[in-house]
Amino acid sequence: MADTKDAQATVSDGGAEYLIRHTTLRQLQVLEAICRLGSFTRAAEELFLSQPTVSMQIKKLADTLGTPLFRQTGRSVEPTDAGRQVYASCREILGSLSNLDVKLSDLKQLRRGRLRLGVLTTAASVAPEILGAFCLRYPGIDVSLQVTNREHIAERLRAHDDELYVTGQPREDDDEIETTPFAPNPLVMVARADHPLVQERDIPLARLAGENLILREPGSGIRDAVLKHFTALGVQPQVRMELGSNEAIKHAIVGGLGISALSLHSLTLESAGGQLALLDVEGFPIMRRWHLVYWRGRELSLVARTFLDFAMEYEPEVRARLAEAQAAFDRTRLKHSRPEEPA
Ligand code: PGA
Repeated sequence: MADTKDAQATVSDGGAEYLIRHTTLRQLQVLEAICRLGSFTRAAEELFLSQPTVSMQIKKLADTLGTPLFRQTGRSVEPTDAGRQVYASCREILGSLSNLDVKLSDLKQLRRGRLRLGVLTTAASVAPEILGAFCLRYPGIDVSLQVTNREHIAERLRAHDDELYVTGQPREDDDEIETTPFAPNPLVMVARADHPLVQERDIPLARLAGENLILREPGSGIRDAVLKHFTALGVQPQVRMELGSNEAIKHAIVGGLGISALSLHSLTLESAGGQLALLDVEGFPIMRRWHLVYWRGRELSLVARTFLDFAMEYEPEVRARLAEAQAAFDRTRLKHSRPEEPA
């Protein structure tokens, strides 16, 4: 309970001392999560707390600060001006605590620590494998892996949500980020294995104008690359549907809903043959590359630095997997184009 001297002190009359006595790091962490995630429920989930606990922490913080921190707008909450100020300070305090954690784990020589990684959806098939090998070598490291599209990765990067990212081609004039080119990320045109174009060679892009094209959601790098390619060649695609995941697109192709462009990396499991095939279309594969990226102004932790070096060591393996997938698709096509051998 606040003593008389405390009770007389308020935030406004110079209360760093008052804040130190009455706020807790847990309250700040809760506020930070609500602002970042835009919801009490999601903050509760992320922090493994119950929703009443989250509400109670915020109520106590608001009472201490003597001002409301959130307002309800429709079904979501948004911070008040005061809430926003507190959020900015929280990020600094929590950021500096996590830097401290990183430094301490550096001192413990990678025996403990946390790696926060944000990757493009196209890298979702590769990143867990590299992480698996990394964690075998450094079993004390915990990993958080966020998988999302290009636009959201760029937002996470700007907000310093993760330490290291797998992105596409960064802007050349962006001198705030440090970039290391990583494995190739070819975009291939995919159809159901029984599609009539599968056996054709050198298909002009214009032939696809009459096909139902399935596109990723706005904000996706694949979507942008595909639309750019169609525009560059003056072909108007017939977009049948938009889907927010590469996996869903594969199912839609198998379901006969159309054709689509996907990263060859997301097709390694399907390359052994079966339901999907690659189309030999003008301009495909669209050759692109992943990059390992981090914020220059932020000291890279030993954990993240070690992971970066580890991923570079692992890169030939990723390339080999890609080449295998391409060769397997080619073999299946050849097999199907040959007339049946007499028994
Ligand atoms: P995305 O992936 O479509 O999920 O943004 C982008 C990429 O590989 O460029």
